[in-house]
Amino acid sequence: MSILITNIKELLQVRAENVLKVTGNQMNTLPSIKNAYILINNDTIVDFGSMDDASGLEADQTIDATGKIVLPTWCDSHTHIVYAGDRSQEFVDRINGLSYEDIANRGGGILNSAKTLQNTTEDDLYSQSIKRVKAVMKLGTGAIEIKSGYGLTPEAELKMLRVTKRIKKEFPLKVKATFLGAHALPLQFKDNKQGYLDQIINTMLPQIAKEGLAHYIDIFCEKGYFDLEDVEQILSAGKHYNLIPKIHVNQFNAFGGVALAVKHKALSVDHLEELNPEDIEALKGSNTMPVALPSCSYFLSIPYTPGRQLIDAGLPLALATDYNPGSTPSGNMNFVVSTACIKMKLTPEEAINAATINGAYAMGISNQYGSITKGKKANLIITKPLSSYNYLPYAFGDNHIDQVIINGEII
Ligand code: NIG
Ligand code: FE
Repeated sequence: MSILITNIKELLQVRAENVLKVTGNQMNTLPSIKNAYILINNDTIVDFGSMDDASGLEADQTIDATGKIVLPTWCDSHTHIVYAGDRSQEFVDRINGLSYEDIANRGGGILNSAKTLQNTTEDDLYSQSIKRVKAVMKLGTGAIEIKSGYGLTPEAELKMLRVTKRIKKEFPLKVKATFLGAHALPLQFKDNKQGYLDQIINTMLPQIAKEGLAHYIDIFCEKGYFDLEDVEQILSAGKHYNLIPKIHVNQFNAFGGVALAVKHKALSVDHLEELNPEDIEALKGSNTMPVALPSCSYFLSIPYTPGRQLIDAGLPLALATDYNPGSTPSGNMNFVVSTACIKMKLTPEEAINAATINGAYAMGISNQYGSITKGKKANLIITKPLSSYNYLPYAFGDNHIDQVIINGEII
C-alpha cells in the first residue's frame, strides 16, 4: 500500500543516506523542504521533494497536509517501558521531604519495582507494558530502546526481556533490547555484591545470549550501586556475547565512568546530569553518543544535563525519555524536546536533531531511522497546522500531532 502526502508546509530532517548522526554546530541545522510531498510504499520512503515536481505522482491513499509539518518519528533511545505497577506513593513521599536516595536506602526505588515485577506474570507484565507502548506510538515514537533491570533475578530478568521480544514482534515500532541486570543490588546479595555480579555473568548472560534477547548491555554506574570495577567486569563479560554497552552514568556523581564507557566503545553514555571537563575530553574523538534525559531531571528536580556545553564542545547529543516508574513516569518525547529547549537551551533545530537522527544513532539504527531519506523506514509524524516548527517545543504540554505513521502503518 502506498501513501502520498501532499502540500506539506515543511518537510523536516531531509538527509542524505550517509548522515548517521549530527555533531556540534551541525546540530543547529535542520535541512527541510517547504511546500513538499512525500511518497511511501509499504514500509519504505520512496520519494519526496517540492510540490512543484509532484505532478503525475499517484498512490493508494493521498493525505493533504496543508499547513502541517511532517518530520520523522521520534527515536527514544533510553526507556524502561516494561515494568509492573507504579511508584506513585514514593512520588508523594518525595513531595513530603524524602530524597530519591532516602527512598532507595529504605528498600524502595528500583528494589520496590523489582519486587512487584517478580510477582507479576509474564502475560500481565505484557498487558501493562503495551498500554504504554500504544500511548507513546500515538505521541510520535517510532523506535524505542527497552531495558531490563526491574527483575534482578535470572527468572525475572528473562521475563522482562521476553516481554520486550513479544512487543518487538507485535508492534510496528522498532524495538532494541538492553540487558540491565546490574541496575541495583538485590537484598539477598546485600553483603555479597560479587555474588550478584557472578550470577549476572555466569547465569543470566549465557541464557540471554542463547535466546538472543538483547542487543546491548547496561549498568547503573553510581555511588551506592555499581562502581568502576563492576562496570569493567560487566562490560567485559557482555563483550564476550557481542553485547555493546549503553550505560547509566553521572546521574548523581561523576567519577570516571564516562572515560571507562568510552574505553569499552559504548554506543551511548546516558544521564550525564553531572559532568566534568575530563568527561567531555573522553568523549571527544569517540563514537559514543551522549544522551540527555531531561524529563528525569524535571521529575527528580536534579540538574539538567549540560547539553549546551556538550554541543558547544563539538560533540553530538541525543535526547530520550528514560520512561520508568521511579525517576520518569512519562514517555512523551514531545515534552522531552520542549524541555531540552526550555531548560537546556537547545535550539529547536538541535532538539529535533537530538530526538531523531541522533536518537537513532544511540540505538544503532540510524541507517534506517531518524531522517527523511529514500530507502529509510516510513516513520512519520504529521502535525496539526502550525505557524512553524518552532511552535512544537514552544507550546509545551499541548499535543501538536495530527497523525503518526509507523512502518507505513497509520497509527
Ligand atoms: O534511569 N538511574 C537508574 N535507573 C533509572 C531509574 C530507576 C528507578 O528509580 O526505578 C533511571 O533514572
Ligand atoms: Fe534509565
